[in-house]
Amino acid sequence: MMKDVIQEILITPEDILNKCKELGAQITKDYTEQGTVPYVVGLLRGSVPFMADLMKYLDMDIQIDFMDVSSYQGSKSTGHIRINKDLECNVEGMSILLVEDIVDTGRTLKEVKRTLLNKGAKDVKIATLLDKPDRRVVEVKADYVGFQIPDEFVVGYGLDYNQLYRNLPYVGVLKRSVYEK
Ligand code: IMP
Ligand code: MG
Repeated sequence: MMKDVIQEILITPEDILNKCKELGAQITKDYTEQGTVPYVVGLLRGSVPFMADLMKYLDMDIQIDFMDVSSYQGSKSTGHIRINKDLECNVEGMSILLVEDIVDTGRTLKEVKRTLLNKGAKDVKIATLLDKPDRRVVEVKADYVGFQIPDEFVVGYGLDYNQLYRNLPYVGVLKRSVYEK
C-alpha cells in the first residue's frame, strides 16, 4: 500500500483543512480591505490540492490560473527559471497571490515573483502550505504560511518524490529506504 512508504504523518487531512479555513479568512480580509480582485496563481503541479482547498475559503471575487516553471540548478546559485506554461492574462497592474506547496531554498518563488513584477504586476504575495526555513538559501518571504516543518523530505497532498505520492491525503515524511536504495 502507498502508506508503506511513509515514516510518519506530519500533517493530517483535518489539520490541512483547518489551516485552509484560517488562511482563507485572513487572505479574504487582507484583499477585501485593499479592495482588489486577486489573480490567484497555483504553481503546477504541487500546489493543486492546496489551491483547490484554499480557494473554497476565499470569500470574495478572485480569478485563478496556473503556471508551470522549472528551475535550472546551474553552476551558480542564481536560480533562473524556464516557464513551461505561462499565465493566460496580462499581469500588468494585477495583484497576484502565488500559491505553492513548499518553500525550500526559496529560489523558485523568488524568481517567479521577480519575473511577475518585471512584467508589471502591481503586487505579488505568496501563500505556501509548507515552509522549511532551515533550508533557505535566498531571501524570500511568504506572506501566508500553513506550517513550518523541519528539514525532512516530505510527500503527499501535492508533494512528490519522482512524481509519485502527490495523491496521499496528508503530508508525511518519506522513508529513507525509498530513496536510499
Ligand atoms: P525551492 O526553489 O528550493 O524553494 O523549491 C521548491 C520546490 O522544491 C517545491 O515546489 C517542491 O517541488 C520541491 N521540494 C522541496 N522540498 C520538498 C520536499 O520535502 N518534498 C517534495 N518536494 C520538495
Ligand atoms: Mg513544486
